[in-house]
Amino acid sequence: MSTLATTVNGLKFKNPFVIGSGPPGTNSKVINRAFKEGWGGVIAKTISLDCSKVVNVGPRYAKLHSADGKEVIGWENIELISDRRFEIWLDEFKQIKDAHPDGMLIASIMEEYNKDAWCEIVGRCQEVGVDAYELNFSCPHGLPERKMGAAMGQDPSILEEVCSWVMAEAKIPVWAKMTPNVTHIEDPTAASLRAGCDGVSAINTIRSVMGVNLETLRPEPTVEGYTTPGGYSSKAVKPIALRMVMEIASLIRKDFPGRTLSGLGGVETGKDAAQFILLGSDTVQVCTGVMKFGYGMVSQLCEELLEFMESKGFETLDDFRGLSLPYFTTHAELVRMQTARKAAEAAAKETMVRNDAEWDGDNFVKQSNDLSR
Ligand SMILES: Cc1cc2nc3c(=O)[nH]c(=O)nc-3n(C[C@H](O)[C@H](O)[C@H](O)COP(=O)(O)O)c2cc1C
Repeated sequence: MSTLATTVNGLKFKNPFVIGSGPPGTNSKVINRAFKEGWGGVIAKTISLDCSKVVNVGPRYAKLHSADGKEVIGWENIELISDRRFEIWLDEFKQIKDAHPDGMLIASIMEEYNKDAWCEIVGRCQEVGVDAYELNFSCPHGLPERKMGAAMGQDPSILEEVCSWVMAEAKIPVWAKMTPNVTHIEDPTAASLRAGCDGVSAINTIRSVMGVNLETLRPEPTVEGYTTPGGYSSKAVKPIALRMVMEIASLIRKDFPGRTLSGLGGVETGKDAAQFILLGSDTVQVCTGVMKFGYGMVSQLCEELLEFMESKGFETLDDFRGLSLPYFTTHAELVRMQTARKAAEAAAKETMVRNDAEWDGDNFVKQSNDLSR
């Protein structure tokens, strides 16, 4: 009988499915709902000490539909972090943990480049009993003007410094959330792991422009006639997320054994999750998927992942985590292997043709005679 239960950085998840930071974790009401539906963990919407600087606009979403218009395959947002007061969040974190002690509640936090602010937010959230932190170094819009989010996550030296402030203060596990808007995701990953973070999450949204309205000629989402590049998520980003998860998992195995990876980007099914785990994820997050399908989708995620495990004879997630990682190599090596295989096949074919020609009746009789001698 297979099980989805897993322990990551000492945290006991009843299944690897974690709600990714965003609208599905925007207050205690919806987080409690998520735990009731059976999610292994929830990462709350990102918070900071002073919400007065957070001013959202509308509309802040734009969607890419499939050709038949029935399915949302890509989602752009220009939403900022939570605009709810920090003290309200602290009360709600405590109330959620009281109601769901077995649900893994992770606070997503973000601050400016200021040691005191980071130390304060870390100290105050852990006092109310959250299980872990995710550091948001990855929001691609709005906050970089304040040197927050992706602006910090794209600079490995600042990232390493900030992570070391957090690690000096944190008494619970810390995951650093990576932005995909870099050339080599291994660089910020290594910086945060060098500073002592217990794990990383990847990916946040991909900086994007959803499109231009051909009637109005304005780019979307249009706010007062203008827009700003936003963050792309949902099914369309899964191949990019998987590539980055593979790169991070390979780095962790080589240089940081024991550290963990929470993979996300476009996960909608248990089969998607199986692929993230095969490429080295310890947990799998879903954000836009929950906005599309609702909190109840977790039962189908669990069912499909278990079905996959049973079909392959895997009893635990450890049995197949990272199993597909060894099958990546360079293009030059693919050429070498394919050329070698074709040459071997051609040689085998030639031998067969030669044998066929030689094995006529006479030869066969002669050979038999030879053998009998
Ligand atoms: C509307 C929206 C708001 C988001 N807000 C946050 C946030 O506050 N903090 C954060 O770390 N990530 C945020 N994200 C990013 C998601 O957590 C996730 O990294 C990304 O969307 C890719 O995963 P997905 O395809 O499952 O959504 C947000 C995503 C969306 C769509």
